[in-house]
Amino acid sequence: MTERECAVYAAKEAAKVILSFHHQRATVQTTFKGPRDLVTNADVASEKAIISILKASFPEDHILAEEGHHATSVDEGRWWIIDPIDGTTNFAHAFPIFCVSIGLWVDGQPQLGVVLDVMSDECFVAEKGKGSTCNGVPIHVSETTDLSQSLLATGFPYHEFRRSEPYLNVFKHFLQEARSVRRPGAATYDLCSVAAGRFDGFYEFGLQAWDVGAAGLIVQEAGGLVTNWAGGDDWLFSNKVIAGNPAMHEAIQKVLEMHIPTDVLHSPTMDGAS
Ligand code: IPD
Ligand code: CA
Ligand code: CA
Repeated sequence: MTERECAVYAAKEAAKVILSFHHQRATVQTTFKGPRDLVTNADVASEKAIISILKASFPEDHILAEEGHHATSVDEGRWWIIDPIDGTTNFAHAFPIFCVSIGLWVDGQPQLGVVLDVMSDECFVAEKGKGSTCNGVPIHVSETTDLSQSLLATGFPYHEFRRSEPYLNVFKHFLQEARSVRRPGAATYDLCSVAAGRFDGFYEFGLQAWDVGAAGLIVQEAGGLVTNWAGGDDWLFSNKVIAGNPAMHEAIQKVLEMHIPTDVLHSPTMDGAS
């Protein structure tokens, strides 16, 4: 199996695991990682299934995964970056937007991204230099250039509300100036929706490598731009991500610069600390 075949197979097997919990809701057990940060037994089972499939084909590769395999750099070697359920809070409430996300980074660069929307069975795949597809059909970011005609998406982190005011000012700006703003509750879904031209742009803070490691490449290979809030290429571990078609990416960055203090734009937190 190629890396692409293996990642797609692993995502589909993980989706079967997640669906078996979803269809027997009494089997779903939820615990807390933080005051609002949930994890379920389905997250753990999905992660286990994905890792065992990847490890069977690529035993030497490294793993960065949300529920038990954390790392702070993927600069050296081959790293699979896994979010076993993106949208855990949605899943825990049976709100039907949650995805499996599997990315492959080699020596600090994204090579492959697979995001499977479990309920719709839409499978987004990108390989470096080969474009992005949804269920095998090529996808492309939108051509919207006017903020007033744009549909944007964002998310709210589970913690770090110390400096929520500037963030709310950004939100207010887009509520007034964009067509509308959506908050589906799964960053991979948001990013793939940008790649497919459904959303014109997306921004969020508090994101982790497993939220963006696969879907960031899917946006790039669909013709979009992905950066941190300061416009830099270090978006995997930056915590703060902007994605969009090139015009909307620029528009979002300008609005962030208007409302967010410069030190905060450049820091991984909302209070400017490093
Ligand atoms: C979360 C989702 C959500 C985003 C959070 C993420 P999880 O991931 O992507 O949309 O707002 O910041 O943590 O916890 O469901 O895997
Ligand atoms: Ca996630
Ligand atoms: Ca998750």
